[in-house]
Amino acid sequence: MSINTISVVGAGQMGGGIAQSAALAGCRVLLHDTDDARVSAAVERIGLSLMSGSAKGRYTPEAAATALARIVPCGDLSAAIGADLVIEAATENMAVKKRIFAALDAICAEGTILASNTSSLSVTALASATGRPEQVVGMHFMNPVPVMKLVELVRGLRTSDETFNEAAALAKRMGKTPLEVRDYPGFASNRILMPMINEAVYAVYEGVASAETVDGIMKLGMNHPMGPLALADLIGLDTCLAIMEILHEGFGDSKYRPCPLLRNYVQAGWLGRKSGRGFYEYAGAEGG
Ligand code: 3HC
Repeated sequence: MSINTISVVGAGQMGGGIAQSAALAGCRVLLHDTDDARVSAAVERIGLSLMSGSAKGRYTPEAAATALARIVPCGDLSAAIGADLVIEAATENMAVKKRIFAALDAICAEGTILASNTSSLSVTALASATGRPEQVVGMHFMNPVPVMKLVELVRGLRTSDETFNEAAALAKRMGKTPLEVRDYPGFASNRILMPMINEAVYAVYEGVASAETVDGIMKLGMNHPMGPLALADLIGLDTCLAIMEILHEGFGDSKYRPCPLLRNYVQAGWLGRKSGRGFYEYAGAEGG
């Protein structure tokens, strides 16, 4: 099977990045969101990012323009009917994702693979919303997608080898390295990363050190490219909290309990970069 057209459902930070990387890899990309303004904003961000990439000599300005032209904004989910593979990158909510998977299953051709960019929800459960569980797979991209090399490839309980191999081949074509994991809460990436971020929040909550100091320790002492709290702001504090709750519920282990300070920030609307304030303040708020 050759994958020429992909559909990306959800035009937020992750969906936009996936669309950009797929378009640069030569795919036609049908970019859908329920909110037209989010699609327009995503296309604008992708255009700027592609211009910046070509200015840095990563590819020619012509390649950037061609990639941008490959992205088709779609107001209607039914546009996914023309896709060989769909990557769902909607909000991290099981009910919402299941609804999308059931709708995609009803409209997409028999051979179409349905992938989810979920960061921690069960791919097996998502597959159960469709009549094609063998053709459902997790493709978990990292933020910022155009830069990060990993795609955590999640094998649901019923994912077929053929589906898994097609998704791996697409990830490689997009310049990424797919690494295989089994379908358990948080997979491997967020099962390791999020407790570290949550513990960093506890350190601030308990007055061990300031956010700047915690981040400085992890950057200077452990050579992390950015501190855990700056990274939490980049990911989105609402997303971090949602993932901690999935780990807590999924394993029933108190070591995954979300820090009350993280919960307070989310309740205050301090979601990180996208809202202009998280552990740090940001001058220009980005689109979600
Ligand atoms: N889009 C495109 N390119 C970007 C970008 C973006 N959003 N952000 C940064 N870049 C590019 C820059 O243009 C620059 O390119 P150049 O080397 O050609 O000039 C390069 O990345 C480095 O950027 P900067 O010089 O601005 O800044 P840094 O050197 O500090 O790098 C960073 C920024 C790449 C974000 C780096 O700090 C980093 O790797 N941080 C850790 C990111 C991380 O851990 N991501 C995983 C999060 S977990 C996740 O996504 C899972 C989810 O489920 C929660």
